[in-house]
Amino acid sequence: MKTVSDSKQLRAQIKAWRLAGETIAFVPTMGNLHLGHLTLVEEAKKRATKVVVSIFVNPMQFDNKNDLSNYPRTLQDDQDKLISHNTDLLFTPTPDLIYPKGLDAQTFVEVPGISDILCGASRPGHFRGVATIVTKLFNLVTPDVACFGTKDYQQLQVIKNMVEDLSIDTEIVGVLTVREESGLAKSSRNNYLTAHEMSVAPLLYKTMQQLALAITQGESIVEQIALATDRLNASEFITDYIKVRYANDLSEANAADQELVILAAAYLGKARLIDNMVFNPNS
Ligand code: PAJ
Repeated sequence: MKTVSDSKQLRAQIKAWRLAGETIAFVPTMGNLHLGHLTLVEEAKKRATKVVVSIFVNPMQFDNKNDLSNYPRTLQDDQDKLISHNTDLLFTPTPDLIYPKGLDAQTFVEVPGISDILCGASRPGHFRGVATIVTKLFNLVTPDVACFGTKDYQQLQVIKNMVEDLSIDTEIVGVLTVREESGLAKSSRNNYLTAHEMSVAPLLYKTMQQLALAITQGESIVEQIALATDRLNASEFITDYIKVRYANDLSEANAADQELVILAAAYLGKARLIDNMVFNPNS
């Protein structure tokens, strides 16, 4: 595996691959890689002849300076994992390379509507940062296909809308969430949890499972969301939101008449955990 942090070197390698008839699958990450990320790399490998992974802790998508500086950076370990998962190229740009004029002078990409709800409402500017960095990375890597986790359900929808709206010629693939045996979704932010909090954390997924079951059994969505919120808050969670939305466009779900998604965000100790569950209430 080649590691490059310079855009000229990256473009030269991509060009050489293109001339040789290779196809390119891309997995953007912020590093501190776990099995969730590595599943995306494996999926990428199935979809193209070359796999490019990026590691860039993107300052534009952090609304909190402490969160940005505390974000785990584990490059050596990440490189080892990527080598054992047959990655062809790792791109590790610096903030200066990506944002040479600084964040305030940077042109940005904003996907309207969907960026302002759910996590976008709690973290203003977050999805602008995500859409902008993914556009920049797509322009550098020019991938045929790019893999994203459904763990970040809203992010995946933002990217899909962006690619469609801007006619970006990259296929977007959503990959199912990888979980701990306890049901807790794997996340770099789980590193912030104490051993005790790790034992409490699976309640988030369990609560979503119960909520999905109750809605499937015909219970009121509004009442069941209130119960789920109480249940989480009665433990050590502080719930940011639990919402039930239509799975295709994240619009308000007024009735259990098509595929739905439960989306949840909750604080546990120092971590803000997010998770989601897609289900069909009629099956
Ligand atoms: P990061 O949080 O590092 O996640 C990189 C990719 O891994 C995302 O597509 C995310 O959905 C996926 N992922 C994370 N946990 C997962 C899990 N448990 N199972 C399956 N996939 C999982 O998301 C970002 O970085 C950034 O916002 C980024 C897209 C790189 C833009 O900066």
